[in-house]
Amino acid sequence: MKTIKDIDFKGKKVFIRVDFNVPVKDGKVSDNTRILAPLQTINFILNQSPKAVILASHLGRPKGEKKPELSLEIVAGELEKSLNRKVIFLDDCIGEKVKKNIETSNGDVFLLENLRFHKEEEKNDENFAKELASLADVFVQDAFAVVHRAHASTVGITKFLPSYAGFLIEKEVQYFSNLLENPQRPFVAVLGGAKVSTKISVIENLLKKVDKLLIGGAMSYTILKAKEIQIGSSLYEEEFVEKAKKLLKEEKLILPCDHLVSKSPQNPVEIKTVREIPDGFYGVDIADETIKLYADEIKKAKTIFWNGPLGIFEVAEFSKGTIAMAERIAERTSEGAVSVAGGGDSVSAIKKAGVFDKFSHISTGGGASLEFIEGKTLPGIAALE
Ligand code: 3PG
Repeated sequence: MKTIKDIDFKGKKVFIRVDFNVPVKDGKVSDNTRILAPLQTINFILNQSPKAVILASHLGRPKGEKKPELSLEIVAGELEKSLNRKVIFLDDCIGEKVKKNIETSNGDVFLLENLRFHKEEEKNDENFAKELASLADVFVQDAFAVVHRAHASTVGITKFLPSYAGFLIEKEVQYFSNLLENPQRPFVAVLGGAKVSTKISVIENLLKKVDKLLIGGAMSYTILKAKEIQIGSSLYEEEFVEKAKKLLKEEKLILPCDHLVSKSPQNPVEIKTVREIPDGFYGVDIADETIKLYADEIKKAKTIFWNGPLGIFEVAEFSKGTIAMAERIAERTSEGAVSVAGGGDSVSAIKKAGVFDKFSHISTGGGASLEFIEGKTLPGIAALE
């Protein structure tokens, strides 16, 4: 994989695929982490006096329609602040007008309109990819969160331009490759979240790699159901109970031994700690004994991977287990362990626990990081190789 250190950008028009798929609340960017993520790459290129830097991204899933509420114009102001220089927003990502603007550039930074306003983007349409490529001399991929998608701006474009990986891609690939190929042991993974169905291949691949796999969140109830433990009214996936039975044979797989339960999953109602969940109660978090059991495993680990919350952490009373995991992993990192977290919800929990800077690496990719862990080929990375 060639990286941006392998080329001189002087005088070149550089097309950078970024992931500015940011959360938006009340018409404003509510978290700018994804805007900050490719800044090192953008600044590195800008310092070499390119003719133009062209930033392209998707926002949401407009499915080929021009939806004003998903315009990337919303990002331009935030980007200007972070880059500390003018950003020219163009109201399309292809076409003569866009091309003309870029041709007259004198080292300017352009932000293109949402790529997904054209249905050809997600279809990896060759002509659309050629149109995008015609804007530039060089392609730089720095949108790790979208490399699991084979789209025109992640795969198609690489057929028409010399293509390089940015610093963010390099860093993400390095951390995830090390996890899978060369982890310091013990290697402990913590996996939570709602559904076993979306994570079954992740669990299967992780079981081949880790020394311990600690499970939490609603997905644990499907596995506990398979173990014939009472889960009361907790959320679970009936169609996955049979599949989950196979996982029970795995010694590396550790399940919660006690649970915080509530009569409502939205609010704390008659909350208590139990080993088996009575009818009418929902499992909402791991409880103290499980927290201790998991913390002891983390304390011994030299490599830790975490994806998914261990309870309904958005409700303060149900967040103790998830926050405790974030804190314990951060502590262990300060003692020398390597810690990697991925997935939007775990990242919010890490922020909530105030330990965002204490992890070795927090991935910008949710789906992309899970597909990496599953051992799948990521088309946007393969296209650079
Ligand atoms: C993400 O938010 O994970 C990426 O931006 C990819 O978005 P997508 O799932 O809509 O392709």
